[in-house]
Amino acid sequence: MACDVPQLPLGSNGRPIPLLGFGTAEYPLGSTENLKEIVLRAIKLGYRHFDTAAAYRSEMPLGEAIAEALELGLVKSRDDLFVTSKLWCNDAHRERVIPALRNSLRNLQLECLDLYLVHWPMSLRPEAELQPKEEDLLPFEMESVWKGMEECVKLGLVKCIGVSNFSCKKLDRLLAAAKIAPVVNQVEMNPLWQQKKMREFCVEKGIHVSAYSPLGGRGTVWGSNRVMDCEVLHPIATSRGKTIAQVCLRWAYEQGVSVIMKSFNEERMQQNLHIFDWSLSPEELQKISRIPQIRACVPLGFISEKGPYKSLDEFWDGEI
Ligand SMILES: NC(=O)c1ccc[n+]([C@@H]2O[C@H](COP(=O)([O-])OP(=O)(O)OC[C@H]3O[C@@H](n4cnc5c(N)ncnc54)[C@H](OP(=O)(O)O)[C@@H]3O)[C@@H](O)[C@H]2O)c1
Repeated sequence: MACDVPQLPLGSNGRPIPLLGFGTAEYPLGSTENLKEIVLRAIKLGYRHFDTAAAYRSEMPLGEAIAEALELGLVKSRDDLFVTSKLWCNDAHRERVIPALRNSLRNLQLECLDLYLVHWPMSLRPEAELQPKEEDLLPFEMESVWKGMEECVKLGLVKCIGVSNFSCKKLDRLLAAAKIAPVVNQVEMNPLWQQKKMREFCVEKGIHVSAYSPLGGRGTVWGSNRVMDCEVLHPIATSRGKTIAQVCLRWAYEQGVSVIMKSFNEERMQQNLHIFDWSLSPEELQKISRIPQIRACVPLGFISEKGPYKSLDEFWDGEI
């Protein structure tokens, strides 16, 4: 039977966000040939929130799966699904934002996105490859890029706009300039990188946090095995008769964020949905809160002596 995922209202204009989302970035990006079938399977199991990005090369198969799900009656209307996509850095220039979103919408066969995010606080030369060269790195004109994002809302191309991989400092600067405030910051979050400061900041500012790499993103270049191998999580999972993945997802859900996990394996897709009918005890939460913290996702390709960010510390505004 399909599982019902809890939802939370998002922004004044937005549709509720299902608190467990299905990630579509696999490593290497765009390497899964049967992604359309995988997404159809996910919809059958009960996933309603899909996370894609221009950079993931997953928009097209996701769009095909959505079209087929509607045709087959797996969902009654497009509005039963919540779709997020992201603006890649080579389109992070004011005049390129609307065309980039239109391109994503074309790929997805949709008229409107539920959520569009600035993928990284970074701009690249328009012709840059996914792995940028030093000369591709450009200063990120946050305020003007955001104007482009606001225009997307005004044109009715997207319900809500937000950001990803922003520090508290950058969010503060954006909030000061924005006419339409960002509703989401999508960031790495798992028991080994708990984002306590970011979560407190976002609660205060009314921004919803979405957690990517909730299992540590194992098997990718941006993640590691550290979360799934964590010695603190093992005994909690064993004593509960749950898997470490379920403990991680449940923990993130209990922190009040939406969780974007990726699994293209049917058994694990199913397993990961079973986190809503049990809870972690205060003692277990306490143990998890004491895990030493380490960020996995370090965007080294955006750091250069000649670029706008000279060090990771500068990139994250010291929030590492
Ligand atoms: N905004 C950003 O900059 C950003 C960055 C990274 C990711 N994201 C988004 O967040 C999504 C999820 O993050 P992620 O892909 O980095 O990592 P993740 O969800 O933390 O981990 C994915 C890995 O865990 C495995 N896995 C899933 N369920 C499992 C289970 N129950 N037991 C054991 N292994 C399991 C998956 O393998 P199988 O597929 O074989 O199950 C895959 O190797 C992405 O797909 C993307 O949509 C966004």
